[in-house]
Amino acid sequence: MKIAVFPGSFDPVTVGHMDLIRRAAQIFDRVYICAMVNAGKSPLFTGEQRFELLRASVAELPNVTAELWTGLLADYAREKGAQYIVKGVRNGTDFDTEWSMAQINRELGDSLETVLLPARAEYLHVSSTMVREMIKYHRPLEPYMPAAAIETMKGWGTDGNQ
Ligand code: PNS
Repeated sequence: MKIAVFPGSFDPVTVGHMDLIRRAAQIFDRVYICAMVNAGKSPLFTGEQRFELLRASVAELPNVTAELWTGLLADYAREKGAQYIVKGVRNGTDFDTEWSMAQINRELGDSLETVLLPARAEYLHVSSTMVREMIKYHRPLEPYMPAAAIETMKGWGTDGNQ
């Protein structure tokens, strides 16, 4: 059974992430999507919120489970019995970052292999950073965020601008 972990900040999850998650779900038997802590970023949404948005967004995908983890990615992968990490790459900058992380995770996680999926052209401009700007300036989120995540945010009575 091929098990993959798809980690990220997901601050918040975007339609670009969802495209990658769906593609990963077709390649692997089981995919764990995990909201994690990126030491280099200070998120807009709390870990719990980032996880809730993810969970709502992947609810329709039977072999995908969303979780929240505040430790090392390699430890999470070990706990899940995952042999693979999946990440998306939009450009050379993403690739350089992911290449370094892949080396670290291979060392930390007994031969943990990283599989990089190229973002589709129509999602190249979509990023969590851009979505946070749309939230800040109260612009429509429908083109950039999964509908289930937008609904979940509405249920909180806040759009992240608290
Ligand atoms: O969406 P991002 O910000 O590119 O995701 C980066 C993330 C959260 C996957 C990365 O920072 C991470 O793996 N954090 C968990 C801590 C860890 O394992 N660090 C060592 C690998 S660099």
